[in-house]
Amino acid sequence: MQQKIIILDFGSQTTQLIGRRVRELDTFCEILPYNKFPKDDPSVIGVILSGSPYSVHDPEAFKVDLSQFVGRLPVLGICYGAQFISHTLGGKVEKADSREYGRAHLETIDTSNPLFKGFDEHSQVWMSHGDTITAIPDGFECIASTKDVKYAAYSLIPNASPKERGVDTLATANSDGTANHSPLPGREGGGEAPVFAVQFHPEVFHTVQGTQLLRNFVVDICGSHQDWSAASFVETTVQELKQQIGQDRVILGLSGGVDSSVAAVLLNKAIGNRLTCIFVDHGMLRKNEFQQVMDDYKVLGLNVIGVDASEKFFSDLAGVTDPEQKRKIIGRDFVEVFNEQAKAIISTSSVGADQEGAVRWLAQGTIYPDRIESLNITGKVIKSHHNVGGLPKEMNLQLCEPLKWLFKDEVRRVGRQMGMPEHLITRHPFPGPGLAVRILGDITPEKVRILQDADDIYIRGLRDYKVRLSGEEARRVLAAGVPAAMQDGEIEVSLYDQIWQAGAILLSTVRSVGVMGDERTYEHPVALRAVTSTDAMTADWAHLPYDFMARVSNEIINKVRGVNRVCYDISSKPPATIEWE
Ligand code: XMP
Repeated sequence: MQQKIIILDFGSQTTQLIGRRVRELDTFCEILPYNKFPKDDPSVIGVILSGSPYSVHDPEAFKVDLSQFVGRLPVLGICYGAQFISHTLGGKVEKADSREYGRAHLETIDTSNPLFKGFDEHSQVWMSHGDTITAIPDGFECIASTKDVKYAAYSLIPNASPKERGVDTLATANSDGTANHSPLPGREGGGEAPVFAVQFHPEVFHTVQGTQLLRNFVVDICGSHQDWSAASFVETTVQELKQQIGQDRVILGLSGGVDSSVAAVLLNKAIGNRLTCIFVDHGMLRKNEFQQVMDDYKVLGLNVIGVDASEKFFSDLAGVTDPEQKRKIIGRDFVEVFNEQAKAIISTSSVGADQEGAVRWLAQGTIYPDRIESLNITGKVIKSHHNVGGLPKEMNLQLCEPLKWLFKDEVRRVGRQMGMPEHLITRHPFPGPGLAVRILGDITPEKVRILQDADDIYIRGLRDYKVRLSGEEARRVLAAGVPAAMQDGEIEVSLYDQIWQAGAILLSTVRSVGVMGDERTYEHPVALRAVTSTDAMTADWAHLPYDFMARVSNEIINKVRGVNRVCYDISSKPPATIEWE
């Protein structure tokens, strides 16, 4: 049975990050809404309670029935999670005199506590809370403090029995969230599970020994076997797919991006050429991309139908300038072309719908962040799901989503494990509507050609320019799965691998005057965009080196006819978005 840690999400921005950190410890975890603890799942080995935008005193604050797991499984409360445990089990949480935010150092640490094994004195942590714990529940003990935060961490380790400390009973929670001072369930044997709580955030990089803390919890305290790896994932998923699909056939829409490509290779491993992939060229991909990606797919042994539908898309988009309208047309045309192909595959199949070998599945490269339900618990949909949608009901296809448990960096690891080429794996995300959302104004084949040329110079430049990184920057790049070797505390990577996503935007509604040789020009500007991010929900503009920008700007203006000015977009998300349309 696959062991798992459950992370209960109370709506913090960093909940996904906790999940990624646990996975980096080769341990499977599931992020669930705060009120969806899976009571009867024997594979759960520990529980983590996340932070929250709420104060425990807010009437609408999220509450969980702690008695479902406290005492039965090891628990780690983080930030709001720590405050909620204290508030519920008889401690006290009050408004802090000033918001406790940013770097702090642990002034006292109980390094004999298993949570802090291997911790250094004065270890740096990251705080972010408006309330603070002013009293911890009976039977618990303080295990770390900072200058301003007395209860930076506290714990209860039942073997150091509360009785020994003169406490008869421990406070536990009633199902309505109120305190209940009766013995913990199953306590008679004295072996019930420990509770830990930290008011800082071990999941963020600024908590320097955060990974050590999570390792102590997940591996030593919860007893993870650390057997969740790319290799084990490939092995079990291929077996599961074989069972799930049997002798049926599967259709999959490829986009050239890493998620759908990895899903296809995984399925191909499981069912060979009973998988048929459809790759639609809407004419607004990057320069030469359609052919290059088709070649890559052939080398990987995939059974791919490449469809050049660019004429249809260009003709339906002619004269359309409104961004939403453009997206709608592209989405609609895409579904039409895809469905036409899917229907053709089904109708040419020599096997009847009710016979073995029929086309019964639609596979998608959906990944975990696309579907974490808990993103919605605060009522905000942060990112909508961009996959192929709306296959007609009469096709009667079931969904198959082999990557649905993986984070992006894990998808990349799985791809590498299966021997996929590095340029496919580290490819930046690219929007489904392609360059159409990077051309302001109406779309013509000529504008696409101009943008493709400018974009190509920019992206090749990013790939060729190498930088040396150390410290936090290097850790961030390595954590994203970029295969770079650390030497003398430094790694060498390309600018392309250092950033999340880059692209050029053609401002075709704008013209400006320039001079080339003796001639006056009156042409369009191109904006360059590059952002750093971990999940595209928030993003910062990348601080690219000036010499790189100078070189790229020169090359674009000299070589791309129709462009006489290059700008760099220095907006972060929010309030801007990554794409311009
Ligand atoms: P925004 O512009 O919303 O983009 O900050 C966030 C991420 O999503 C990508 N994106 C899309 N991907 N179809 C896609 O497949 C789309 O319509 C689409 N719009 C934006 C964008 O490139 C970035 O990675």
